[in-house]
Amino acid sequence: MRRKIVAGNWKMNLTRSEAKKLFEEVANLKSDLSCDVYQFVPSLFIADLLDAHLSSPVIGAQNAHPKSNGAFTGEISMHQLKDMGVKAILIGHSERRHFFGETNEFLKEKVDAAISEGLTLFFCCGESLEQRENGNHEQVVISQLKASLFHLPEKDFTNVVIAYEPVWAIGTGKTASSGQANEMHSAIRSAVAGNYSIEVAEKTSILYGGSCKPSNAKELFSKEHIDGGLIGGASLKAEEFEGIINAWK
Ligand code: 13P
Repeated sequence: MRRKIVAGNWKMNLTRSEAKKLFEEVANLKSDLSCDVYQFVPSLFIADLLDAHLSSPVIGAQNAHPKSNGAFTGEISMHQLKDMGVKAILIGHSERRHFFGETNEFLKEKVDAAISEGLTLFFCCGESLEQRENGNHEQVVISQLKASLFHLPEKDFTNVVIAYEPVWAIGTGKTASSGQANEMHSAIRSAVAGNYSIEVAEKTSILYGGSCKPSNAKELFSKEHIDGGLIGGASLKAEEFEGIINAWK
């Protein structure tokens, strides 16, 4: 059985008090959960949120540097996050790739650092609108996986969650249809099977992200290869996020 997951990515949003309030609201949904819940929060709030000592939602960071320490002004390392008690990290989000110039090689270093710190890594991949319109979408996504993720040995793949986020669907209100998403997830699963084994592929959770909301989550999650969602905008309101979590019921 694959893990079902709903993860929020708050991005660069919320104040300290808003973050605490939202986190508590989501934590209070705990008794009804039919999936694992993660919150990828701004690093600034991690210490506060960890103080609540809750096992769910699991707290993750949105970004970290692969080197464990050193002269990298303004950065936070995975080693430091691990020391704080953080359990998970997002790697390869399209906003990091596009706005901050993160290359496949750098993402590969991050993947290795996450594994060596024992963090669960959520590896994001996805094509641009142009790449989809040219019919290159599967090739683009699989090449992202090959370049930064598939070098991991099989034993480490248990700490990997893949998130397919088509760039044209992020924050745009446009969602991939459940058929488009499932087709891509199936291609990703086949690639995992080809690189590792069918057993590994069957155990790998593949999430969809991009304008996922309560109104479309049930249809998306009903598809064979869609194991949950990575949620941006709709993770910022507890009732919307709850609606997505409840899509698993
Ligand atoms: P939206 O849900 O706001 O489209 O964002 C998706 C995303 O980027 C999650 O990482």
